[in-house]
Amino acid sequence: MAAYKYMIRGGNTLSGEVTIGGAKNAALGIIVAAIMANEPVTIENIPDVDDVRVLLDAIEGIGAIVERLDRTTVRINGALINDVIVDQEAIRKIRGSYYLVGALLGKYKKALVALPGGCNIGSRPIDQHIKGFEQLGARVSIHHGKIDAKAENLRGNHIYLDCPSVGATINIMMAACMAEGKTIIENPAKEPHIVDVANFLNSMGANIRGAGTDAIRIRGVNSLHGSEYSIIPDQIEAGTFMLMVAAAGGDVLIRNVIPKHLESITAKLTEIGCRVDEYDDSVRVIRDKRLSYANVKTMPYPGFPTDMQPQMTTLLALSAGTSIVTETIFESRFEYVGDLRGMGANITIEGNTAFITGVEGFTGAEVSAPDLRAGAALVIAGLAAEGITSVDQIHFIERGYERFEDKIRGIGGLIEKINADDDRQVRKFRMKVG
Ligand code: UD1
Repeated sequence: MAAYKYMIRGGNTLSGEVTIGGAKNAALGIIVAAIMANEPVTIENIPDVDDVRVLLDAIEGIGAIVERLDRTTVRINGALINDVIVDQEAIRKIRGSYYLVGALLGKYKKALVALPGGCNIGSRPIDQHIKGFEQLGARVSIHHGKIDAKAENLRGNHIYLDCPSVGATINIMMAACMAEGKTIIENPAKEPHIVDVANFLNSMGANIRGAGTDAIRIRGVNSLHGSEYSIIPDQIEAGTFMLMVAAAGGDVLIRNVIPKHLESITAKLTEIGCRVDEYDDSVRVIRDKRLSYANVKTMPYPGFPTDMQPQMTTLLALSAGTSIVTETIFESRFEYVGDLRGMGANITIEGNTAFITGVEGFTGAEVSAPDLRAGAALVIAGLAAEGITSVDQIHFIERGYERFEDKIRGIGGLIEKINADDDRQVRKFRMKVG
């Protein structure tokens, strides 16, 4: 299979409008939750990204009927599911695969699902998921690279999460909504996509209250029914474009967002001198002068998202003064910093902290995406840099950003996706951008 890379000629300021797609991490939960109903479920605003395609293939593989109504709408019917074993090679590479355990366990009281993959950003244990399933009455073991969960009966329980895990919260919520009686999840994650998955389950007849607060209360139901649902906009895609404009400079209207979900990002941008105007369902980012330093600590929602940390570190590396970025969620999330240094950034890493001395500008270089969000950060760096940058391993980026290069071109960025093995395409790009 051909490998692709992005070629970028930096230095253009960005202008115009960009429209944000549906939230990838909500979509992963919602697509899986949809198989719990025995009637068709129509889901709109699904992002057109690789992780979603892998998950749709996986549910089709166990008998769900999946109809693509258009690029962002899909109809799923879980009535004919005939298998609870999910073990394709592709599914091992994505994180959202673990939701199949909660959904299948809730509906069929058994599941055998390949252990989740996802970005290599830390050890990413799943002990909280397992604890939750066990407290609902399931027996859970891990063998031959799979999670094996089964129960005679699931019974609601009072579950306290040791850390507010996004995945564990959604997984337990799914299993509990078809358990007998009442479940309370204490210390749950509160990310917008937790609320979105809960709203979706409720639209299918589940009884979930309190998603987005410190305790989620679920009363189990016997069955779920069909529904029509539209996924919320992607907070991280929106944030990535906000920081892209802040780094490259310009004036861009970012449409189809929920400004409330972007508050931690907007607050940091405003703090360092970037203008952000909020409207009902869009934000406008204007950067016409050099920005200044800030200290940032990643935290569970509503704190600053770990999925925006690489993009923020990149921006601060171009801002005046000394910034400190502390990563508290995942232990290995500074992999991209070596490549940023090659572009001229002055960053020192000590443990989970980046000490950043802002430089006036970056210079283009050959870099490689180590994971999804760090890949996006390197694209931002390339757009802000003088000269040409190539970013390879972009399959990581395509897992979570739909038509990334098209959207960037739409606001004036010079970027092209080319076959990494084809030197003629590289030469053509160089000639075209001058
Ligand atoms: C999800 C997102 C990911 C995002 C992350 C944090 C998806 C598919 N992925 O990942 O993009 O970066 O939330 O916002 O939605 N933990 C445990 N035990 C567990 C589960 C988690 O100790 O059983 C720890 C993790 O190591 C990490 C923290 O809890 O330090 C948060 O992880 P979690 O919220 O579960 O992240 P994911 O669901 O993997």
